Amino acid sequence: MGEPKRPSLRQGLVALALILSACSASPADTDPSIAPASTDATSTTSSAGSGSTATTSALAQQGASGIGDSLFAALGNGGYDVSHYSLDLEFDGETLAGLATLRVVPQVLLKSFQLDLTGMTVVGVEIDGKVVGFDLAEELIVLPAEPLPAGQAVSVVIDYRGTPSSIPNVAGRFRVGWHKSVDGWFVLSEPAGADTWFPSNNHPLDKATFSLEVTVPDGLEVVSSGVMTGLDLGTDGATYTWEASDPIAPYLVALAIGDFDRVEDSTVAGVPVVNYFDRHVGASDRAIFDRQPEMLEFFSGLFGDYPFDVYGALVLETEQVPAALETQTLSTFGTQILVLGEAVVAHELAHQWFGDSVSVADWGDVWLNEGFAVYGQWMWAEYTRGAEALDGEVVAAYRAMAGAGLSSASEAAGYEQARDLFPPPGSPPADDLFNQSVYLRGGLTLHALRLRLEDPIFFELLETWAMEHRHGNARTGDFLELVEDLGGGEARALAEDWIFSSDLPPIDELGLRPPG
Ligand code: TRP
Ligand code: ZN
Repeated sequence: MGEPKRPSLRQGLVALALILSACSASPADTDPSIAPASTDATSTTSSAGSGSTATTSALAQQGASGIGDSLFAALGNGGYDVSHYSLDLEFDGETLAGLATLRVVPQVLLKSFQLDLTGMTVVGVEIDGKVVGFDLAEELIVLPAEPLPAGQAVSVVIDYRGTPSSIPNVAGRFRVGWHKSVDGWFVLSEPAGADTWFPSNNHPLDKATFSLEVTVPDGLEVVSSGVMTGLDLGTDGATYTWEASDPIAPYLVALAIGDFDRVEDSTVAGVPVVNYFDRHVGASDRAIFDRQPEMLEFFSGLFGDYPFDVYGALVLETEQVPAALETQTLSTFGTQILVLGEAVVAHELAHQWFGDSVSVADWGDVWLNEGFAVYGQWMWAEYTRGAEALDGEVVAAYRAMAGAGLSSASEAAGYEQARDLFPPPGSPPADDLFNQSVYLRGGLTLHALRLRLEDPIFFELLETWAMEHRHGNARTGDFLELVEDLGGGEARALAEDWIFSSDLPPIDELGLRPPG
């Protein structure tokens, strides 16, 4: 990261993806030894005539070690669904001691199941108050004494501890998980970093509500997703309680421990907008967030009512992650990314509808998060600075995707390089999941649809998408069906081209075509 001077907003949007991609470092480190979605039906009790337990046990299955993601076989788990996490954590500045209580609903008769957890020691596991066996290898394997009947919720308590840290990212971007800020700690977990601080079914397909109770040494504060419901200043430190009543994907749970200034505002409709600024964050960086209430109102008009009860920004002074993440109800920003100005603020807010409320069912569909967040950013530019500002964003993004400036030899040579660097947004590489194409060509996909469908139908498309899948999951195929419903087969074909073809489609209305 050099020392970028504050760019204009127009440069900003391209830079958003540039800064993120410039930080791409480690290759994928998925463990090939973890088999995806396998179940087996071997019996645990084979003696005939020993009653119904034997018969049901014979059908019991092992929960798979992955949920079936097309890019990351080890992410999430099969055989059950978590509906609520209650995390009781104690952090002394080094060691994290956790008691995680998960409400687990088996989807099949389950003789064992797995949870995603990395770098922690497990002290013990209980199911409905009874100690059960476990095994901790790549993942935590829980071994109930008797198979768990499908559909019957159980309470699984995991007692764990360790020194949390960040880990290499399976998606190729900078390290994820538990990070250090200048004088505190925070998490950034997309896609797999939540494993570093609590056991979970770590995939957006399994969202759940969260309660957090975190005890920290006196003088430190804890902020998280949802609303703060309690503060207990005890003799062994301060205990903060946070509740998130809408379902969250594990990677989207915000957490920061530090010393914050709380600044409260609200929208006209009464949605609280509460920012937490690390005390080191200066006035000019804080000012970038001033228009969030107005932004929230603008996006609510476009995408339908804001999906959650509260919103805010958590702004951290850290050298570690020059990025922002759309953590649910409380987006997390490292101060370095604020060189992008209001663009990044709009981007993370738009994600609350697209990514957080409407979540991907598979990481291969991540353009549904990033492309929509980028388009939200562009629409904010249009709203605040006019149609030319939007066109400026579109032209700059198109040129970047067409390889402008990549080759000194010729534009055509640049475009050849761009075709390697920027795969179509609908088929991103696992080890560079957040490459610029899911952002910029994702955003261009929506703009091309807008030009084809015209504004009334396009806005109906955005709002219907957000509303139909509110608090749920969706796939690219669902999006294409909606495009076809609203715009017909030709609009669908146009969208497919933008999402999947290796050639960059033209935007004739703006005179944009790939060189050559
Ligand atoms: N979703 C983030 C954004 O564009 C980018 C991102 C992906 C990220 N993985 C991350 C940020 C890990 C921080 C850490 O808004
Ligand atoms: Zn994003």
